[in-house]
Amino acid sequence: MAGRIVLIGLGSNVGDRAEHLRVALQRLGSVPGIAVVRASAVVESELVGDGPAQGKFLNAVAELRTNWPAVALLALCGELETMAGRVRPAPRNHPRPLDLDLLFDGDLHIDSRELVLPHPRWHEREFVCGPLRELGYDLAALPKVERPAVIESPVAMAAQCSRWLAGGCVVGLVPTMGSLHRGHASLMELARQECDRVVATIFVNPLQFGPGEDFAAYPRDLTGDVRLCKQAGVDAVFAPTVAQMYDPEFCSQVAVGPAAATMEGALRPGHFAGVATVVARLFALARPQRAYFGEKDAQQLAVIRRMQKDLGFPLQVVGCPIVRETDGLAMSSRNVYLSAEDRAASTVLSRALASAQFAWQQGERDRDRLLARARVVMAAEPRAQVDYIELRRDVDLAELPAGPVADVRMLIAARFAGGVRPVRLLDNARLGAGSWS
Ligand code: PAF
Repeated sequence: MAGRIVLIGLGSNVGDRAEHLRVALQRLGSVPGIAVVRASAVVESELVGDGPAQGKFLNAVAELRTNWPAVALLALCGELETMAGRVRPAPRNHPRPLDLDLLFDGDLHIDSRELVLPHPRWHEREFVCGPLRELGYDLAALPKVERPAVIESPVAMAAQCSRWLAGGCVVGLVPTMGSLHRGHASLMELARQECDRVVATIFVNPLQFGPGEDFAAYPRDLTGDVRLCKQAGVDAVFAPTVAQMYDPEFCSQVAVGPAAATMEGALRPGHFAGVATVVARLFALARPQRAYFGEKDAQQLAVIRRMQKDLGFPLQVVGCPIVRETDGLAMSSRNVYLSAEDRAASTVLSRALASAQFAWQQGERDRDRLLARARVVMAAEPRAQVDYIELRRDVDLAELPAGPVADVRMLIAARFAGGVRPVRLLDNARLGAGSWS
């Protein structure tokens, strides 16, 4: 029979496993237009990845010859899984009587919402590699999909995202400046849950650093960052150079309004225009449906939300909770520059917030008395030079008049000067919303 060679992986870990595999192959072979050319021996394997305790799998790989389109084969595999008693929807990695995976379809490359070919993880699974070797395939010669793909050029990034969007994918964007930590990983993991494809960007953006700020010294570690992105399930890392992002004639910037005028905006003139400009550029390149930012930089989040509304980017800005060290310090790429003494003292920010939080829980609602609670804690730590302590309307960080307040966020910034270079730490918390949010 003429047609393409299609390789499929078979697995079963419920019921009569060998019989499920045998029946699946027999059913496949009886479909008009599909021939089962040969199948590997059956191997036994443990579940790969997290999942409930369950029995071992029996696995095999089969070679088909067919002219059926790949998406039709995918639907057929789904039907055969259902016929074997597989129930859908089911949580990821639950035991299953039959699992049929398309591994390769001739030379075809597909990267759509429902199907990725070649299978993105075939080479990480011995229960696929072993049977492929047994069938005589040279694994080194088989195509692999690199995840994450590391992309430098803005044109290539835009083209990749366009292909995903055309394939029906929901694209999630996680803009970062690299030097990634668990806080960033939490943004990527949420994006992974909510989107079909996740793009993390790693770009230390010169536009958002003032003269005399730490642009040159900002920590950079692309290899470690790509490793973290892989663990978090990121599909593409966009890591352009400055020259690739901003051509020599580049001169347009996003002007930001009152949300950017005080606090960080007052201390770092031009900072938020630089942030808004690069984020707008990333939105325009990737055209994500969702973009993820940490609440640690609450004012940045407010500026980006405003910009997204004002310029009409058709996407949802998702704010993600602060991730803290066990002693309360909010995670930040700059924490590595704290001296040991400053690191010990740095918990003062979260303690000051906790003190205001406690007062709130006791019924305190007066703006200035809540601020005073946090000021007392900060003042007791001589290593911390306070830049500001503010109580703002939570939704947009607008200033509040003196008197009783509701729906508020407290924001603190302080400098620590005892390490190799001075470090500014930011922290914030919504008062009244659990202990930290
Ligand atoms: O929060 C950051 O890391 C940066 O300000 C951002 C949003 C990636 C823009 O450069």
